[in-house]
Amino acid sequence: MKVLVATVKPFAKVAVDGIRKVIEDAGYELALLENYTEKSDLLKAVADADALIIRSDIVDAEVFDAAKKLKIVVRAGAGYDNVDLKSATAHGVCVMNTPGQNANAVAEIVFGFMLNAVRNFYKGASGCELMGKKLGIHAFGNVGRNVARIAKGFGMEVYAYDAYCPKEVIEAAGVHTVDSIKEMYKTCQFISLHLPATDETRNLIGRDLVGLMPKGAVLINSARKEIINEEELLQLMKEREDLKFISDIAPAAACKFEELCPDRYFATPKKMGAETAEANINAGIAAAKQIVGFLKEGCTTFMVNR
Ligand code: 3PG
Repeated sequence: MKVLVATVKPFAKVAVDGIRKVIEDAGYELALLENYTEKSDLLKAVADADALIIRSDIVDAEVFDAAKKLKIVVRAGAGYDNVDLKSATAHGVCVMNTPGQNANAVAEIVFGFMLNAVRNFYKGASGCELMGKKLGIHAFGNVGRNVARIAKGFGMEVYAYDAYCPKEVIEAAGVHTVDSIKEMYKTCQFISLHLPATDETRNLIGRDLVGLMPKGAVLINSARKEIINEEELLQLMKEREDLKFISDIAPAAACKFEELCPDRYFATPKKMGAETAEANINAGIAAAKQIVGFLKEGCTTFMVNR
């Protein structure tokens, strides 16, 4: 059996070593396709792969067509909007993610972004502190829960809203609940987004919500850029000179944000949230173990295309 690791954004070497050990101990062969720039390289590499480990790499119908022997794809990470699930199912391929494995890394970077924003990007102007400020966590999954844990260490007042998570779960984590999403945006100076990109969430974060945030508002998006209604946010940032926006990965309209408000906007050139050795090791090795469990024992825990 051949397991291909195909990553435009490679794992840390220590993680690849760990993946290799799991795969080879199981008696399988590991192939690596790192830093590829052409889709044709991926199409060629998947041709004889039985299993595939990816990160944000696009796995669409063309890839499934080319991967005649493929049985399983594991997205080493949380969001699997980069995989065409319908096509996977049509080709009889199991798709999994590795939920929670990189959650702490993403949660930690949120605080780097927040400090960056409140200290005015370290350009010399006096800023403010996080202690005592209200933070709203939009979606209380693995990352949101880690953000809540760390925020308490900063002495922040933490709120969360999640359409799919019972209030009792949020309250049990010592986090305030709200009756509506609008109430959270109205209450919190800081909002941290942790929603997946789905038909329901694309363009969801726009004027209706961000416009409600109090003075000195800071919007942090460490999730997918697609959940932001960029035109509405740009317009709002034009109208409100107090509003700051930090994004982990440049928005589609990055140039417009840069031009309009260079002092109130920051984006990472590539997605950096999960770029730690620990997250790479956790997610990469979990992916390798899930592949071995699936191929040897038919284990389908974490399958997302049932
Ligand atoms: C995820 O969905 O797990 C994060 O966005 C990290 O993505 P990455 O592995 O492409 O950095």
